[in-house]
Amino acid sequence: MPRVTVIGRDKTYVYECKEGEHLLTSAIREGVPLDFYCSTGKCRTCVVRVVEGMENLSPISDTEAYRLGSGGVTAGERLSCQAFVEGDVTIRIPE
Ligand code: FES
Repeated sequence: MPRVTVIGRDKTYVYECKEGEHLLTSAIREGVPLDFYCSTGKCRTCVVRVVEGMENLSPISDTEAYRLGSGGVTAGERLSCQAFVEGDVTIRIPE
């Protein structure tokens, strides 16, 4: 099972999820305080920065890349509502 590590503002969360599970949904289930609003990739509220394991998340769609902008993609950002976990990953919640 993939291991997800979330570096939060005050705490680091570590949990396991099913391969192919939705990143935002799994984080909420585990009590991680990830902000979100639309859950459809339109508002950018759920953005996270991938510290390790970008290759273990589902590929970025054109829509997600558009919302993140080229700077966000280059910086390793993802919309947690648009990413599915396929292996171990470490993400950071932005300040
Ligand atoms: S919750 Fe709106 S883009 Fe993810």
